[in-house]
Amino acid sequence: MFLWWVLAIICACDAYKILVVFPMPSRSHGILGDGVVRVLINAGHDVTYITPFPVENPHPKLRVIDVSSNIDSFLGWLSFAKKVAWVAPGWNSILGLDLKQILDSAKTGLIYFSLGSNLKSKDMPDDLKRSMLNMFSGFQQTVLWKFEEKLSDLPRNVHVVQWAPQTSVLAHPNCIIFITHGGGLSSTEAIHFGKPTIGIPVFGDQFMNVDKAVMSGHSLRVDLSLDMPEKLKMTIEEMLRNQSYAAKAKELSFIYHHRPVPPAAELVHWVEHVVRTGGAPPPALPRPQRAILPESLSRPRRCPRRNYLRGLCNAQVLLQKMSVSK
Ligand SMILES: *[C@@H]1O[C@H](CO)[C@@H](O)[C@H](O)[C@H]1NC(C)=O
Repeated sequence: MFLWWVLAIICACDAYKILVVFPMPSRSHGILGDGVVRVLINAGHDVTYITPFPVENPHPKLRVIDVSSNIDSFLGWLSFAKKVAWVAPGWNSILGLDLKQILDSAKTGLIYFSLGSNLKSKDMPDDLKRSMLNMFSGFQQTVLWKFEEKLSDLPRNVHVVQWAPQTSVLAHPNCIIFITHGGGLSSTEAIHFGKPTIGIPVFGDQFMNVDKAVMSGHSLRVDLSLDMPEKLKMTIEEMLRNQSYAAKAKELSFIYHHRPVPPAAELVHWVEHVVRTGGAPPPALPRPQRAILPESLSRPRRCPRRNYLRGLCNAQVLLQKMSVSK
């Protein structure tokens, strides 16, 4: 009987022609877009994908519209676009032998430091690089720094890699702290793998992501500045001393994974829902992210003056006030 239903569902399922638009010349947008496309193709749909990043060996059901030639004019901020058009080779590849050995032998724990693909560590002033290395050398823990150039005279506990398979590093049990710029994907991956973070926000949504992580209790924030090494040192020490951040990260990871349907299946479901109903809004979507907001976020608060999401924030406060006064 079960088999019959499975067959019936497969036969009833139409393949739709779906247009996926991710034209932003930012690598993290591309990674997200690739994931959406993969899931829809696996569900049997025909996908046309607008992307500025090359797709190697495209699936027969995938048509790629390459907008890489538009990158320069797309946003106008040429120098930035050029920087981010960098492509991480084999994003999800497994740990290379060297990295696996470094992680396996980091018995007192490994601190993973990466400022993402937009901000290049090599743009850092030399003095700052040296004082960062010097600061890291004072720790017993192993430090893995994703840095785009080779550095000489490395302290014995510091390893520099031009590129790291981030998800594999974070998945390793010996990785105990993730120092991150707080980009959307890195923030999600930290929760996915249950790792506490030290956020150094640089740009755009990173400030909001880091502040949210700090309020959730699994993160601490350090600002990018020339005296960053001293502040980062104190923050790492605090995170090593106080296990509440790691415990919170594990707890949030459990909440994140404890859902009725995996996100990929949910994506396919809602896309098909929109097609089959001609665009009917989905019935009340679950809001699992509410569960990870600390109480302080659900209380009325004041909005920062110069936050680009101020409008949204004001609306939230208004809604909260309304629900409180009810
Ligand atoms: C650990 O940090 C949390 C969050 O900042 C704090 O509430 C708690 O009191 C700290 N515990 C210790 C032992 O310092």
